[in-house]
Amino acid sequence: MNELDAQKRIVELSSKLNYYNERYYREGVSEISDYDFDMLMKELQELEKQFPHLQLPDSPTLRVGGVINKEFATVAHRYPMLSLSNTYSLEELNDFDRRIREIVGEVEYVCELKFDGVAMSFLYESGILKQAVTRGDGTQGDDVTTNIRTIRSLPLRMKTSNPPEYIEVRGEVFMPRKEFERINFQIVEENEKRQREGKKALPLLANPRNATAGTIKLLDSAVVAQRRLDCYLYGLLGENLPVKTHSEALELLKIWGFQVSPTYRLCKTIQQVKEYIREWEEKRRTLPVDTDGVVIKVNNLLQQEELGYTAKSPRWATAFKYKAESAKTRLLSISYQVGRTGAITPVANLEPVVLAGTTVKRASLHNANEIARLDLHENDVVYVEKGGEIIPKITGVDLSARVPDALPIQYITHCPECNTLLVRHPDEAQHYCPNSESCPPQLAGRVEHFIQRKAMNVETLGSETIDQLFQAHLIKDVSDLYTLKKEDLLQLERFGEKSADNLLEAIAKTREVPFERVLFALGIRYVGHTTAQKLAQHFGNMDRIMTASVEELMQVPEVGERIAQSIYEYCRNPQNIQLIEKLKKAGLQFETKQETSKVEGNVLAGKNIVVSGVFKKYKREEIESFVPAYGGKLSSSVSSKTDLIVAGENMGPSKLEKAQRLGIPILSEDEFLRMIGK
Ligand code: IVH
Repeated sequence: MNELDAQKRIVELSSKLNYYNERYYREGVSEISDYDFDMLMKELQELEKQFPHLQLPDSPTLRVGGVINKEFATVAHRYPMLSLSNTYSLEELNDFDRRIREIVGEVEYVCELKFDGVAMSFLYESGILKQAVTRGDGTQGDDVTTNIRTIRSLPLRMKTSNPPEYIEVRGEVFMPRKEFERINFQIVEENEKRQREGKKALPLLANPRNATAGTIKLLDSAVVAQRRLDCYLYGLLGENLPVKTHSEALELLKIWGFQVSPTYRLCKTIQQVKEYIREWEEKRRTLPVDTDGVVIKVNNLLQQEELGYTAKSPRWATAFKYKAESAKTRLLSISYQVGRTGAITPVANLEPVVLAGTTVKRASLHNANEIARLDLHENDVVYVEKGGEIIPKITGVDLSARVPDALPIQYITHCPECNTLLVRHPDEAQHYCPNSESCPPQLAGRVEHFIQRKAMNVETLGSETIDQLFQAHLIKDVSDLYTLKKEDLLQLERFGEKSADNLLEAIAKTREVPFERVLFALGIRYVGHTTAQKLAQHFGNMDRIMTASVEELMQVPEVGERIAQSIYEYCRNPQNIQLIEKLKKAGLQFETKQETSKVEGNVLAGKNIVVSGVFKKYKREEIESFVPAYGGKLSSSVSSKTDLIVAGENMGPSKLEKAQRLGIPILSEDEFLRMIGK
């Protein structure tokens, strides 16, 4: 087929398939048999494979996944993603209302349900979904676009002939409860099969929210497509939008083809807000998605602006949270888990009980103080509640049901894994197993921490393989990963030529991992990846950290005495000193790279960018140099592959005409500089 015919057919197939998709997902009508649909889809996929540049930005093939994500680029949010203040009390809502009226006078509110999923930002340029970014820490998140495109209810192209140049739509991605149950049912079936084959069981999904978060971060988008995530949109951001109120924004989103939950309501008084809250307390359980409260927002956008923000949340909105459901059940026993730092976590094993739709068998107890606070006795009947955490908490004991002569729970004195006497630092609640040298879960935990995505990112190494490596005495600590040989791996069960090569290659690649992530990977107690970043920036290399005093360590932003002390101790432990020596020999990065890498960010990751014209604030060469520095690719001519154009004055007319014809966004110098945060 020639290119012109291919293009015609691609457009035709895409629009047909998009139409059938819409009919099916919005109205539940199938106008075509599954077989015929699949045939059309196959035809389109093949044409797109042959002519990749002809793929439309809203191609239905994007919905079926198939892209394997290597990792998710970090993207800075143009508008920060804030959280909400919250309350459990209706009285406090009066205070919220009064404070607002004191500042802006008369107000109207919009009430929405608080959906329990994962907050996301969706960027649309000229009507096309360009990027879907997780909330992350509120200022930057992960680009998970390929996975999000599989959500059928999210438009890949806005339904309007006159889309705004740039908007961000905010909303909640969730896994419908039915879908959650369907997947868990499948896992149960799979596990039955695995048991027959003597294989390890797969873990069940804990709850819909965690399942959503996990699914969004899956590397294989085809698997994401099989898990039918959904989303509700509740926020619209951009410049010069034709709306004056939040409710108008919601209606506009609907017109543009976004799914807005029909449960929102305009309320003229705080009384009406409270009525909404009461009305939905029970009714919310009939919805397909978990909800944990009501979000109350000032409707008028000018008033919102006037009210502004605190450091963390808007003053124009708040969340009312419904009290968590609780259930009563019996304590069967307590297990003690040993983490990678040796920290002991007691976990209560309970008689299974249904709580807010899921069966609960375990509850976290945090530490010995918590057990003492609850005055927990053997066989006690306890109250369990689901908070925001995955594992429910024990909130109290039903004393009337205590078995006579029941003994108080005695906290363990020795490590359940290696039998070493536990220690507890004077001002800490946690017990620790001090046997960091040979306590098995600590050894394995440290390796698991070392290879995780935010650290050295050795994807091919799973916890089962780590166990195998330990059992075969091939590794004792992370430095041994660097002396593994192919012959060693080939002895292991399930290892073939290919998987052995892949693992060794992935390990070798960690030599390029920057110092800050190596530092995080070491797993120094209390040193998370942000602290590691700050330490790396401040000291520049490992040797300076190793020799720093507690006071010097405390000079680093966000490092307090507890963290400083922990680093100081780590650096004076002979075993750790030896480990770092070995890792240095293995060729890992132990200093920050200064001049060599000019990478300043990755907001432009994966984007093909054309720079054209004359600029005011920077020379054209400088603007061009920003493109790779922020992860983009510079190209000289405009084509259908171009993602955006940075235009100064006197941009060539033929380029301009072509850009407009292809619908490529054109940014001014200022807009571009804002985008890269300059
Ligand atoms: S508005 C600046 N509306 O609640 C306020 N949030 O604590 C932006 N959420 O991370 C949020 N349903 O994940 C808003 N109808 C709703 C919501 C909602 C759920 C979540 C969202 C956010 C968190 C805020």
